[in-house]
Amino acid sequence: MSAGTTDGRRAGTADRPRTGAPGPRADTTPGAARDAVALRRLAVATLEANWEHDHSVPSRTLYPHQWSWDSAFIAIGWSHVRPERAWRELGSLFRAQWVDGRVPHIVFNPALRVGSYFPGPQFWDSALAEGAPAAATSGLVQPPVHAPAAWLAYRRAPTGAGRAALARLYPRLVAQQRYLATRRDFGAGGLACIVHPWESGLDNSPAWDAPLAAVPADAAAMRAYRRHDTAHVDAAHRPTDLDYARYVALVASYRERRYRDEDLAGRHPFLVECPLLNAATGAAEHALARIAPLVGADPGPHRERAARITEALVRRLYDPTTGTFQPRDLRAGRLVPARTVLGLAPLILPDLPARQASALVAEACSPRFGLAARMDRPLPSHDRTAPDFEALRYWRGPSWMNINWWVRQGLLSHGRPDLAGGLRDSMIELVTGAGCHEYFHPDTGAGLGSPAFGWTAALLLDVLADDPAG
Ligand code: DGY
Repeated sequence: MSAGTTDGRRAGTADRPRTGAPGPRADTTPGAARDAVALRRLAVATLEANWEHDHSVPSRTLYPHQWSWDSAFIAIGWSHVRPERAWRELGSLFRAQWVDGRVPHIVFNPALRVGSYFPGPQFWDSALAEGAPAAATSGLVQPPVHAPAAWLAYRRAPTGAGRAALARLYPRLVAQQRYLATRRDFGAGGLACIVHPWESGLDNSPAWDAPLAAVPADAAAMRAYRRHDTAHVDAAHRPTDLDYARYVALVASYRERRYRDEDLAGRHPFLVECPLLNAATGAAEHALARIAPLVGADPGPHRERAARITEALVRRLYDPTTGTFQPRDLRAGRLVPARTVLGLAPLILPDLPARQASALVAEACSPRFGLAARMDRPLPSHDRTAPDFEALRYWRGPSWMNINWWVRQGLLSHGRPDLAGGLRDSMIELVTGAGCHEYFHPDTGAGLGSPAFGWTAALLLDVLADDPAG
C-alpha cells in the first residue's frame, strides 16, 4: 500500500453555501477556514472526544461501541498525533478476535446500558458460539483493513514500541487472513464471501439490492425492535425498515447455527464475493509482506497470497463489458449489475494489471463518479447517473472519507498523482465546509449522519499530513 507525498495542489476556494447539521466545525471565515492548523485541531479534538479507555467509538451518539474497520482507519489518524493510541486501538480490537481467526465487526463496551445500540449484545448472543471471546461481540466481520493500517501507523511512527506492537499483532493479522481464506471461500475460486451486507462496510449499497431481494423479510418485523440509528439521524438518510428486517433475518440465520461457517453454503440466503472486502484482503497480504521482515517472519507466502487474490479478483469479479469490478452473487450465480464505488476498490492493489487499473481510472473519471485533477466534490458512493442514486441515503449516494481515501491510495500506487491531488483537495474542502461528519451530500457537501465521526477526523489528518507542498 502506498502513501505518496507528491500528489497535488492546495485546496481551492469554497464558493457555495453548505447546510451541515451542528457539530464540531472548522472556522469558515476566509483564510482561517483554509488553515490546515485549524482543521488539524478540529480533527484531533474529534478523535480525543471519541476516545474510550482503550479504543475509539466511531461516534458517541450513533455508534457507541468499537467497530472493526473504523478502528483501523482511526488508528491511522492516531499514528499522526498519539502513536501509542494507534497500537492500543488495534490491540483492544484484536483481543476480541475469535479462536477461528475472525475479527468481529463490533466489540461491545460492557459499561454501556442495555439498549444503547441496536442490534446490541443480547441480540448477537456471541457467548453461544464456540471460540468466541469473553467480551460480547457480533459474529460478522468487516473488510480486513487492519494490516494496511498497522503498516501505515508503523511507517508514520517507526519506534521500538511500534515494532513490538507489530510483533504482537502479526500472528493475529495472519489468523484473520486465514479465516477469510479458508472458512469463507464458498465459491472455491480464491475469494472470500460476505454473508451479510454489514460485512462489506457499505451496508445499504445498491450492490446488495439484488442479492438481498432473495432474503425473505417483512418490514413489519421491525415493530418488535427499537432502531437506535433513526433516533439520532433522519430516517431518510438511513437504511429502510425493510433493509433492517433483512439484516436481522440474516443475523438470525447465522446465529441459529452459532455462527458456524461449515454449512452456510448449503443454507444461508446471502453469499456474495465483494470487491472491496477481497481487495482489502489482498492489500492486507501486501502489508503483511512489508511487516514480516520486521518481526522475523518470511514475506514470501504473503506475496504469493497477494498475487493469488489479485488474480482471483480479476478472474471472478472484473466485467470487461462494464470495465469495473462487480460483486458476485453466489446464490444467483451472476455478477450484480449495480456500478457502485465498491467496484473501484481493487485499485488499491499495486499488482492490479494495467488493463484493469486503467479501466478503473476511466470508470472513476466518468460522469458516474466525477474524478478529476480539479473537482468540486469527492466521489459519491454510487453511480450518479443511476436511477436509484439517492444523494442523502447513507451508502446509496453520499460521499464518505474512507472510500475516497482508499481510492486516493490506489491512484498514488498506480501513478496518478494528478488525480490523487484533485481527490485530496476535494476531501479537505469537504471537511472544511461541513466538519467531521460521517458522510456528506455529494453535491452540496452538507454534513450528514453523525457530526463528530472518528474515521473522517483520522483520515483528514492523514491527507493533511501528506501535503505535497509541505
Ligand atoms: C451495524 O449495526 O453494525 C452496522 O454496521 C452499522 O452501520
